[in-house]
Amino acid sequence: MEEAQRLLKLPIYVFAQLDKLKAEQAAKGADVIDLGMGNPDIPPPPEVIEALIKAAGNPENNRYPSFEGAPEFKTAVAEWCKRQYGIKIDPENEVVTLIGSKEGVVHFTLAYVNPGDFTLVPMPAYPAHFRGTILAGGEPIALPTTEHRNYLPDLKIIVPGIAAKAKIMFLSYPTNPTGALAPREFFEEAVAFCKKHQIILVHDFAYAEIYFEGKKPISILSIPGAKDIAIEFHTTSKTFGMPGWRCGFAVGNRELIESLRKIKTNLDYGLFTTVQKAAIAAFSLKNGYTDRVRATYQRRRDVFVDGLNSMGWKIKKPAGTMYVWIPVPQGFDSTEFTMHVLDKTGVVLSPGVAFGDVGEGYVRAALVAPEERIIEALDRMKKAKITFNG
Ligand SMILES: Cc1ncc(COP(=O)(O)O)c(C=O)c1O
Repeated sequence: MEEAQRLLKLPIYVFAQLDKLKAEQAAKGADVIDLGMGNPDIPPPPEVIEALIKAAGNPENNRYPSFEGAPEFKTAVAEWCKRQYGIKIDPENEVVTLIGSKEGVVHFTLAYVNPGDFTLVPMPAYPAHFRGTILAGGEPIALPTTEHRNYLPDLKIIVPGIAAKAKIMFLSYPTNPTGALAPREFFEEAVAFCKKHQIILVHDFAYAEIYFEGKKPISILSIPGAKDIAIEFHTTSKTFGMPGWRCGFAVGNRELIESLRKIKTNLDYGLFTTVQKAAIAAFSLKNGYTDRVRATYQRRRDVFVDGLNSMGWKIKKPAGTMYVWIPVPQGFDSTEFTMHVLDKTGVVLSPGVAFGDVGEGYVRAALVAPEERIIEALDRMKKAKITFNG
């Protein structure tokens, strides 16, 4: 049976492949330290689990939820956005619930991209930012980013012919996989660029709460006029340690929200009401949970980057996310180095090429294991004489 073109055109999903290799190592009895996927290990707040259990006991919550989200959920989202990011959201028309932000970003792409359309994607990127375009039959245009420009794309080099055919620009800061943040001036430039060329601006704000040294990232919707063209995707996966719960939301321009709702009504039935109730409890917490999550990731980051730097690397500490972007030593490409490290140490990393071609030459570590396991990973690398020579 021949798969549809949209599937055949997709590059291999490296994380699915990595899962297989990990399972093989574990079957061989290896003590695997998994720093591969950005799969948070910090448990959700107990208040949220209590709210989940309570809501699960109400039979009414077992029924299909409303497509767009319960009014209380949407109001809680609007309050959270006001409190955390200083942005004004109309809960009625400017919010939609998502079964995780990945689902939302990809379905949003399907709602707007026609075959032949371009999208603009700073690379290296979270794969859903370019794979959604390929699924829609469009062409993601890579805007290469480097450490030299703090992983911000240079919008001035986008030629008019490309801008004219571009439907969406995808931004996401703090950014996966490099951990960079975007300053307000860059967001202002991006909003002006997208308005000038009538391009939809998607901001994936998955790491909104994972930032360090008090340098808080901003919402794209805090830029004046952004709501004319922008939609922002949020998730409880990283903020509240709820990746398996599949809970997210989008906020922003009401027309864009309406199109996302429209496509989703044809695909799913919205977010489990019980999970919505638990998320409402998360949004209203004022017990310093997110401060503790940040402090935990910051300690892990410091231990890991200091450890690598003592082995020959010269890595700057990332400003946000739970990732460290690591140059590959000479003699390996990113996939070979990932396999080498897994084979010699049982430590799982992600090859940079999974984040687009410009990710070649790097691997990503996700700091989703306790500090002692991160120290253990470094010790194993040291013992295996894995150092940086380039
Ligand atoms: C940039 C970015 N957006 C979205 C997601 C997925 O989030 P969710 O669990 O809400 O689907 C991830 C997960 O790693 C991510 O890195």
